[in-house]
Amino acid sequence: MGKIYNSITELVGHTPIVEFKRLEEKLGLKGRIAGKLEYFNPAGSHKDRMALEIIEAAEKRGDISPEKTTLIEFTSGNTGVAMAAFAAAKGYKFKIGLQNGVSIERKKLLEAYQAEIAEVPNELIAGVFEKGIAAFADVIEYMEKGIDHPFSTRQLDNPDNINAHYKHTGPEIWEDTDGKVDIFVGGVGTGGSTHGVSKFLKEKNPSVKVVITQPDPNDVVHPILEGVEDGGFHGIHQVHNDEGLTPMAPTNFNGDLADEYSFISYAETLRAIHLLAKYEGIFVGASAGASLAVAIKLAQKEENAGKLIVPLLPDNGERYLSEDLQKIRPEVEEKAGF
Ligand SMILES: Cc1ncc(COP(=O)(O)O)c(C=O)c1O
Repeated sequence: MGKIYNSITELVGHTPIVEFKRLEEKLGLKGRIAGKLEYFNPAGSHKDRMALEIIEAAEKRGDISPEKTTLIEFTSGNTGVAMAAFAAAKGYKFKIGLQNGVSIERKKLLEAYQAEIAEVPNELIAGVFEKGIAAFADVIEYMEKGIDHPFSTRQLDNPDNINAHYKHTGPEIWEDTDGKVDIFVGGVGTGGSTHGVSKFLKEKNPSVKVVITQPDPNDVVHPILEGVEDGGFHGIHQVHNDEGLTPMAPTNFNGDLADEYSFISYAETLRAIHLLAKYEGIFVGASAGASLAVAIKLAQKEENAGKLIVPLLPDNGERYLSEDLQKIRPEVEEKAGF
């Protein structure tokens, strides 16, 4: 029987989980690592899931329609790319404001999908994550001016972001591992993916451990990344410190579901990217590299011998070719502890 799809919106989700057996063997790991490859989504990242869920849930509520609505979002990139692709596929206008530190590739993709890029004054954009969610609301308010029917997709506090991962990503991990997943690893941008996945997995089995990848933005080893707002980790932030959640923890993140926070350096991130490309033929982006690095460190521990560790790998390294993530540098390979 033939199978012709009606739209790319039908291709979101059901991404593969691959065990990195050669990596395990080469590093002599005690635990098993099986990465969820989210770049298999049609617009190239895990953000496809929430972009589609947010649009379709709003359509079901009767809040938006392609005839009248302009979708609006303020983002560092992948959400914008996903929204732009599905806005195009469904016939919506889409206006996007860009956070600092967006890769050239992601900007060009937005151009390809013909999203309207908003001119937002720099004083509104600078340091939004440090200022917290109110600063995002100011940017959105600015972007909505003069639009008849704006609909802000609000990835930071829209519950449909979490729902996308609770309804799909979590169940896929559970089913594809036959319920054998022991540890889930993910980074936090909006918090939607770790929140939705962790909630689902812990409902199925409360002993599934959730480890949050915490980038150390001060550990920059790549000259072109100096001064980049998120330290080159693209989309993930430190959300927890000794005192508890930081102002960078968005509403959609749920710290109650996190069992552990693991700091990762940029050198460890690049090293993990290089190892995965070399031994598995898989080239991922920086946030994926960071979560893979966390997974490797967990898999080195005796207490995790035989355990199945699943890092969420949000996107692919091709999205950042201009940053030379692939480049092998002695200072990187030596600095990482694996
Ligand atoms: C590449 C990448 N990784 C990770 C994240 C974080 O995912 P989430 O927003 O679900 O927390 C983002 C979000 O912007 C991203 O673009």
